[in-house]
Amino acid sequence: MKAVIISNSRLQGDYFEVVFTAPEIAEKAVAGQFVHIRIDERNDYILRRPFSIHSTDPEKGTVSVAYKVVGKGTLAMSKLASGYEFDVMGPLGIGFSTPADDVVPVAVAGGYGSAALYLLSRVSRQKGVLLAGARSKNDVILTDRYEKAGFDVRVATDDGSMGTKGVVTSLIPQVLEDCKGKKLLFYGCGPHPMLMALGKLLKEKGLDGELSIDHKMCCGVGACFACVIKVNDPGSADGWRYARSCSEGPVFPLDDVYLGE
Ligand code: FES
Repeated sequence: MKAVIISNSRLQGDYFEVVFTAPEIAEKAVAGQFVHIRIDERNDYILRRPFSIHSTDPEKGTVSVAYKVVGKGTLAMSKLASGYEFDVMGPLGIGFSTPADDVVPVAVAGGYGSAALYLLSRVSRQKGVLLAGARSKNDVILTDRYEKAGFDVRVATDDGSMGTKGVVTSLIPQVLEDCKGKKLLFYGCGPHPMLMALGKLLKEKGLDGELSIDHKMCCGVGACFACVIKVNDPGSADGWRYARSCSEGPVFPLDDVYLGE
């Protein structure tokens, strides 16, 4: 469908947020789903790029994507002005489940994984927890929005410039201590090594969760198999199979996540 940019502004440093009209996506999207965007049909950027949906406003019919400028495509995207029309598909993929009424969601984000987890704050009955991990304070984004939504925000940075010095999973023991007696469900989104460490820790401690495991995508709708990842399959000889992260994921229940090498 065609979308029109309402605003496209810098959040901080290399991080931007684009808000655009897409009423059908705004109506249906859940946390963890993504849109597939083609920003220019005439030159270099003919391939669609997947972006996690950060937020939606169903009343206004708008969708927001938070992104980092990492190359030519995202740099070009950061320069698009309001009124620009582009092509978007979505909402795509399987997103995170809605926490049951008595469940406290613990969102564990690496880098701008916090963008993809934010819609959980809309559907959660309980006030959740955000554990935000990043290289430095410059990469900790959107925590103010979680705070506004009533989430308990805790931060870990590799260089210690904000919050606890260390990896984001190091924050989990204290959360378990503070939330004793409550039902927790962990929701992870971030770089692959972080998700693997999170998955192993949750398994070790007998905790449950869902992880957003994606891979480089092409078609975004399950047709090309460019995005396959290994998932557990107890019925197969090797105990695993390939799954398309775009259409069977990107969010998988922890039990399905393949934690081997
Ligand atoms: Fe084509 Fe997933 S990107 S099948």
